[in-house]
Amino acid sequence: GTTLGASAAESGRYFGAAVSTQYLSESAYANTLGAEFNSVVAENAMKWDATEPNPGQFNFSGGDQLVNWAQARGMKVRGHTLVWHAQQPGWAQNLTGQNLRNAMLNHIAGVANHYEGDVFAWDVVNEAFEWDGSRRQSNLQRQLGNGWIEEAFRAADAADPTATLCYNDYGTDSINAKSTAIYNMVRDFKSRGVPIDCVGFQTHIAHNENLSSYQANLQRFADLGVDVEITELDVGQGSGQAATYGTVTNACMAVARCKGITVWGITDKYSWRDDNPLLFDGNYQKKQAYHTVLAALNNG
Ligand code: G3I
Repeated sequence: GTTLGASAAESGRYFGAAVSTQYLSESAYANTLGAEFNSVVAENAMKWDATEPNPGQFNFSGGDQLVNWAQARGMKVRGHTLVWHAQQPGWAQNLTGQNLRNAMLNHIAGVANHYEGDVFAWDVVNEAFEWDGSRRQSNLQRQLGNGWIEEAFRAADAADPTATLCYNDYGTDSINAKSTAIYNMVRDFKSRGVPIDCVGFQTHIAHNENLSSYQANLQRFADLGVDVEITELDVGQGSGQAATYGTVTNACMAVARCKGITVWGITDKYSWRDDNPLLFDGNYQKKQAYHTVLAALNNG
């Protein structure tokens, strides 16, 4: 293939980008997205604060705009994210006990039901673990206890039985305390029939990241019977940037259950990071990292 999306599609995979809907009116942004990628995810538009600004009052305008844009071009849409400790609307942040539980479950039902059939996968729960493998002490954890992640997955499955339901996190780029804690949770969920289908590896990394166990880590999750997806890839600038992008792409290509890769933005112009971590520079020119990824997708 001659584009990222077409090349990934040759092995049944997708290659996507996180999109800020506010930039779709910029022609270079839209043209690059439409030409190179075959999947999108909303960088912010489907999060809790955006989709439910007031209790029980849903606003799908930004998410719908992206879904319509993608569907008009035959692109897939990932859903990000139903439950997260960050970007909660103000009204949810100080809820306690059963009120928070009901708010979480109602949010999942409202959003996942709205996008049923439009998104192929959901990041149901985002970033619930700490580096040491303990649970992050978010309002969800403190108010609802250890069972809240399972409750969230069961609610998502009820609202959208066909989407691939993912747990998504960062710092899981090797076999380490955090990825092992998530691994143990997934193994427990699979053994008890909790509906989890996938684990997302954000992969926000440095140009000299140690990726010696990256592929083995993906594979051990796949061996539990879940898909794996690279969900937010970006790599800081530096001499190893292109090679590191290549290592991640090769790892996904080598794991049969690695369904696709999403980069967390299109152009360095609009990255959340200030170290030029994407495949296109600020003028939408292809970087060396782009060429390395394209070659890896075509070699796989
Ligand atoms: O939309 C408002 C705008 O109205 C206001 O004028 C402006 C002033 O600050 O803020 C705008 O909201 C910002 C939003 O991005 C849209 O640009 C928020 O302040 C800002 O916090 C938000 O940052 C996002 C961040 O998640 C929030 O935690 C980043 O764009 C987004 O890239 C980032 O994405 C996360 C993933 O969801 C989860 N994994 C990590 C990843 C990177 O942090």
